[in-house]
Amino acid sequence: MADRQTIFVLNGPNLNLLGMREPDVYGPETLDDIAGRLEDRAADLGFDIDLRQSNHEGHLIDWLHEAAASQAKAVLLNAGAFTHTSIALYDAIRAIDVPVIEVHLSNPHARESFRHRSWIARAAKGTVSGFGALSYELALDAAARL
Ligand code: DQA
Repeated sequence: MADRQTIFVLNGPNLNLLGMREPDVYGPETLDDIAGRLEDRAADLGFDIDLRQSNHEGHLIDWLHEAAASQAKAVLLNAGAFTHTSIALYDAIRAIDVPVIEVHLSNPHARESFRHRSWIARAAKGTVSGFGALSYELALDAAARL
């Protein structure tokens, strides 16, 4: 059987604290819980996932480049607060030909006004936000069907 294609799941700053970080906003699940859910769903869909987290913008940029170099199927990207600030991430998404799906646990448009602008959304294929951990699974389903 041919190797399964990989879907990268990249997570930015403070998402290592999921589960204890503002659970009223982000829910009770940890990133490991989310990884488990995604691994099961990806296996059903016939893909591998490679889930990573970093608090450093440059790591996320390097990993986007790596996703392209390794011909990943897609990238799910929750860039955390870099969503609202990082033109470097916008440029990285524009520079690669792998589709990137923006993911958020919360609905940034229902929150503070500084979260209403997303540089990621301007370069991404689409966005899934507001469904808690389910946002990642919905985005994975979309990625698998691209
Ligand atoms: C977030 C939303 C961002 O505004 C925030 O900075 C995060 C998490 C989300 O998943 O809801 O860190 O990306």
